[in-house]
Amino acid sequence: MTSGQETSATGEYGTTAPAVPPEQSEREDELVRRVLSSFDGCTDRRLRQLMQALVRHLHAFLREVRLTEDEWGKAIEFLTAVGDITDARRQEFVLLSDTLGASMQTITMNNEAHGDATEATVFGPFFVNGSPEIDRGGDISFGASGEPCWVEGTVTDTAGRPLAGALIEVWEADADGLYDVQYGDGRTAGRAHLYTDREGGYRFWGITPTPYPIPHDGPVGSMLNAVGRSPMRASHLHFMVTHGGHRTLVTHIFVRGDHYLDSDSVFGVKQSLVKDFKQQNAGTPTPDGRDLGQQSWSKVRFDIVLAPEGR
Ligand code: BEZ
Ligand code: FE
Repeated sequence: MTSGQETSATGEYGTTAPAVPPEQSEREDELVRRVLSSFDGCTDRRLRQLMQALVRHLHAFLREVRLTEDEWGKAIEFLTAVGDITDARRQEFVLLSDTLGASMQTITMNNEAHGDATEATVFGPFFVNGSPEIDRGGDISFGASGEPCWVEGTVTDTAGRPLAGALIEVWEADADGLYDVQYGDGRTAGRAHLYTDREGGYRFWGITPTPYPIPHDGPVGSMLNAVGRSPMRASHLHFMVTHGGHRTLVTHIFVRGDHYLDSDSVFGVKQSLVKDFKQQNAGTPTPDGRDLGQQSWSKVRFDIVLAPEGR
C-alpha cells in the first residue's frame, strides 16, 4: 500500500469498503488485532474459533458500512426490543434469524444432500411436543378451519427400502393463518402424529395449506416493514419424521403455484419440496369413502426419503 493513498476494497455481492486514509486504516486494524488476541488464552478451541471469527466479521461489517454512533445506538435499541418481546411463547430472536436467512443457512450446512434424501427446511416456532396420535387415515384438523386435504405417501431409506413404524409429526395453520397455539384458548387443532405401516405407507386428512404472515407485530415486523419486505410465508404443511438409525427430517411441503413461493419471508422454499395439491370438486369420491357433502377437497402425495444417521 502506498503511503498517503486512501484504500478501498470491493467485496463479494458488490459491497465496497469506503476509502480511508492508511493511518486510520492501521488504527482500526490494530484494534481488531488486540480484540482478536484477547481470546488467545481461551482453552476451548472451538469457542476461541467462534469468538475470533465473530470479531473479524463484526469489525469488517462495522468498517465496511462506516457505522455511525447513532446507528450503533439504534442497533442496540433494536436488539433490546427483540429481547424484551421474547418469552417462553414468543421467540423473536429465532424470527430474526429466520428472516435474515441464518436459520436456513445453518440447516442447509447441517443437512447436506445425501442421495435422494428429502431436503430439510425451517422448523418454525409452532411445533408442540406431544400432539394427539391419529390412526392412518385420521384427521389432524380437530376442527381447524380450512378445505380438507388428503395427504399420503411413503417413508423409505435412500436404497428405497420401506421404513415401518416411522413417526410422522405434522402441523399446520388454519384457513385464517393461525396455529392452534395462537388461538389463546389452549385448544389443540391442526396437528397430530401417526406411524407408517409395514410398507412405510402413511395417509391422513389435513387442510389445504394457505399463506399466512409470520408474527409481525414486533421489532422483526418493523424491520421487514422498514425495508419493504412482506412477512408472508408460502403456503405449507410441516413434517417432522423420525426413525431409528436415520437422520430426523424437519421439513415442509409447499403448494405448487402459490403466490409466495419466490418471496417466502424465511427463505424456506426448496424446489424439491413444492408439490402438486390436486384440487377436487365437491362430490368427487374421496380415497377413504369419507362423505364431504358439498365441500371441495384437495389431495397431495409426499414420498419421504430419510438419510442414514450421521450423514
Ligand atoms: C412457520 O412456518 O411456522 C414459521 C417459520 C419461521 C418463522 C415463523 C413461522
Ligand atoms: Fe408454518
